[in-house]
Amino acid sequence: MRWTTFVILPTLATALPQWLKRQGGTTMLRFGCAQVVIDRLDPLVNPGQIPSPHVHQIVGGNAFNASMTTGDVSGGASCTTCRFSDDFSNYWTANLYFKARNGSYKRVKQLGAARQFNDDFSTKIDGGVLVYYVSAQPGKITAFKPGFRMLVGDPARRTADPALKRHNCFRCYTGPNFGGDTSAPCMDNKIDTQNLPKDVCKGGIRSNIQFPTCWDGKNLDSPDHKSHVAHPTSGPANFLSLGGSCPSTHPIRIPQLMYEVVWDTTPFNNKAEWPADGSQPFYFSYGDNTGYGQHADYVFGWKGDSLQKGMDASNCMGASCKDMKVQTIDQAKKCSVKTTVKEDNDGWISQLPGGEMPM
Ligand SMILES: *[C@@H]1O[C@H](CO)[C@@H](O)[C@H](O)[C@H]1NC(C)=O
Ligand SMILES: *[C@@H]1O[C@H](CO)[C@@H](O)[C@H](O)[C@H]1NC(C)=O
Repeated sequence: MRWTTFVILPTLATALPQWLKRQGGTTMLRFGCAQVVIDRLDPLVNPGQIPSPHVHQIVGGNAFNASMTTGDVSGGASCTTCRFSDDFSNYWTANLYFKARNGSYKRVKQLGAARQFNDDFSTKIDGGVLVYYVSAQPGKITAFKPGFRMLVGDPARRTADPALKRHNCFRCYTGPNFGGDTSAPCMDNKIDTQNLPKDVCKGGIRSNIQFPTCWDGKNLDSPDHKSHVAHPTSGPANFLSLGGSCPSTHPIRIPQLMYEVVWDTTPFNNKAEWPADGSQPFYFSYGDNTGYGQHADYVFGWKGDSLQKGMDASNCMGASCKDMKVQTIDQAKKCSVKTTVKEDNDGWISQLPGGEMPM
C-alpha cells in the first residue's frame, strides 16, 4: 500500500473500496467537472451544424462551440468547470429524459458524484461528470496532444456490443443516496448492465463509459473519430485489469479515459407514471431507451504538459496530484458557455428536441 501521496482525502483512505486500493502504483486522476452548458451542438460529429441532431450535457472549458474543429482548445478558453484548473478539455454525453405515460418527456437531472469515495468538489458538481484518467497499462503513458479528439460508442446501436462489454455499463443504485453495491464499474454483469436498467432504481442510475487506450501516434482525429485509437490486442483494457500490448498500428499508450454520469431518476420512480406498455421509460436525447447507444465525446484541452505531468506522477489518486493546479467548486461554477440553441431543458416537452433519431 502506497497511500502517502493521497493528500486530498487522507481520512477517507480507510473508507476507500478495495478496487480503488488495488490501484497502488498507477495514477488515477478522478475529478469532477460541473456543467458548462446544455446545448444541441456536437462539434465533433456535426461541426458547424446548429442545431445538431440531439441535445448534450457538456462540461469543461468555455471554448466549447459548434465549430471548434481543430487546434489547441486550451488557447481559446479562459475558464473551466473542472477541478484541475489547467484542464480546458470538453467532455460531453447525451442527456437523459423520462417519458411519462401520457407521452411527454422531462429531462433527468445529473447529480454530483457519490459521496462515499469522493472529495468535496465532485460531490457538488450537480449537472456534471466525474472524469477519470488512469494509467491502466504498464510502461510510459503518453498524454493526448493539442487538437486531439475522439468518440466512443455508437448512438445508432440498439443491441449489445460484445466489444463494449466492459466499457459501457449502467448501475441501478438500489438504495437511497447511491445506496447499494459500490464495487468497480463494468466488471460484473449482474451488478452492471449494458442496457439501461429495466426496473425502478431507488438511488438513481449511473453510467460509466470508457475510451480506448491505444493511439496511432499520428492522427489527432479520424473521419469516424474512432479509428485513430484502438484497444490493446488482448481486448479492451479496463481500468482495473491492466491492458495488454497495443497493436502495432496503434502503438502509443494513452491514458484510460472514463466518464461517470449519475442521473437523479428518483422523481420518476412512481411506476403508475411509467408507459402503460411496460417499456423502459428513460430515453437518451437521441431516442434510445435501450442504453446500448450510449456514447461519449472528448476534445483534449489541457494546458501545456499539465496532463503529462499528472500521468508521469505515479500514485496520484483522486482530485489532487502533486503540483497540479486545482480550483474550488465555487470558482468552477462561475464558468459557463452561453446557450446557442434554445430548447426547453427543464419543462415537460411533447417530443425529444430534434425528434427521435431515425433508425
Ligand atoms: C469556435 O471555436 C473555434 C476554435 O476555438 C474558433 O476559431 C471560432 O472562432 C469559434 N467560433 C465562434 C462562433 O465563437
Ligand atoms: C404528462 O404527465 C406528467 C407526469 O405524470 C405530467 O406532469 C404532465 O403535466 C403531463 N403532460 C400533459 C401534456 O398532460
